[in-house]
Amino acid sequence: MDTLLSLFPSGSATDADGMLLVGGCRADELAAEFGTPVLVVAERALRERAREYTRELAERWPRSRVVFASKAFPCTAVQRVMLEEGLGLDVAGGGEIVTALRAGADPALLVLHGNAKSDEEIAMVVEHRIGLVVVDNGDDVDRLEATVPDGRAQDVLVRVIPGVTADTHPHVLTGHEGSKFGLAPAAAAELIRRIEDSTRLRMQGLHVHIGSQILEVEPFAQSVAPLAALGEFPVYDLGGGLGARYTYGDRPPAVGEYLDALIGAAREHLPAEAELILEPGRSIVASAATTLYRVVTVKRGEPTFVAVDGGMGDNLEVALFGQRFEAGMVDRLDDSEGEAVTLVGRHCESGDVLIDAVRLADPRVGDLLGVPATGAYCFTMANNYNGNRRLPVVFAADGAARLVVRRETWADLFARDIDES
Ligand code: LLP
Repeated sequence: MDTLLSLFPSGSATDADGMLLVGGCRADELAAEFGTPVLVVAERALRERAREYTRELAERWPRSRVVFASKAFPCTAVQRVMLEEGLGLDVAGGGEIVTALRAGADPALLVLHGNAKSDEEIAMVVEHRIGLVVVDNGDDVDRLEATVPDGRAQDVLVRVIPGVTADTHPHVLTGHEGSKFGLAPAAAAELIRRIEDSTRLRMQGLHVHIGSQILEVEPFAQSVAPLAALGEFPVYDLGGGLGARYTYGDRPPAVGEYLDALIGAAREHLPAEAELILEPGRSIVASAATTLYRVVTVKRGEPTFVAVDGGMGDNLEVALFGQRFEAGMVDRLDDSEGEAVTLVGRHCESGDVLIDAVRLADPRVGDLLGVPATGAYCFTMANNYNGNRRLPVVFAADGAARLVVRRETWADLFARDIDES
């Protein structure tokens, strides 16, 4: 079996006394400086993964770009890293447009998604001159036609349902017939004709995205052929969705392996001169971060519950779609003997289980525990349940740590109240 250390961000190690080092920083020192729970991003691992994507894609299809799916980790510091590494940003809605612009993104390199874009968001597209809008329905076209000023034309892609069902949790499946996202090919063809007749929209191409946490390459390849039947276009956005490694048993395809299949299908079905866009989220950020918690209580019995100072307020992946994580005591990761316990959070819900039947080495009150692979969709879905103060984000690199998002304060919890006293 692989070691627990191998699930932590690449470059993680243990210090002479066995303490976990992430980005060269000791877990105990990170916890002492920033408190717990804390989301620690290994900055080098993050940058390396972003570069791996652009390099591997460019090698296979030079006219291409990678746009990071901001929703996977929409903090400006992460978006800024992506921009510095030469990626664009996929934004789902006005909030991600705002953070992307704050991170310094060139609006022309943004790709806007959404199955229910509001008038306000369409107005933002026009105001900021967002590069590409992925049209999901006819109402998007109505809104754009009503908003784009005379003499301008907005570049759009049309999102197509390829009719592909990948093996992942139904909640994160999006390419199957009946999906709420995009249009079945016949309806897409009709909308494409409408866009081609519009003076305010420019039909640039097609978009497809089949789901998330997909651990096999075939469904990605299968999603390309249905696009070819709709005609030839200058741009194809083939989505994201590659899975990440959360558990010992997960074997996600390497980026190169995934691209061999996807780009192989593109060579077979798409025009050779087209530009290809990919929009990975999870597979760039998941393994680049880890959450550190402190053990608050150990309740012995059948089962033994180990409760930490976080939970579904900082990680909804478990409750939402049953994602399995692993964990270990950060000063004794090698000790795989441990006892099987139920690792739970501090929230008032029985579903607030972080990990069922996880082996922990003699967990005691006050100990530090690390959960690897929490870089994707954890920060973005952190919440204030039970008055939870959302956790801080720390970047660690070469032994130095810096706070990029502070922990919420008690005062933040009533910051939006209208004072009527
Ligand atoms: N493009 C589109 C249009 C998407 O909807 C998504 C993710 C991506 C790209 C990026 O997919 P990724 O490479 O990250 O798999 N709330 C769920 C995740 C839902 C994924 C949503 N769409 C979660 O907590 O895990």
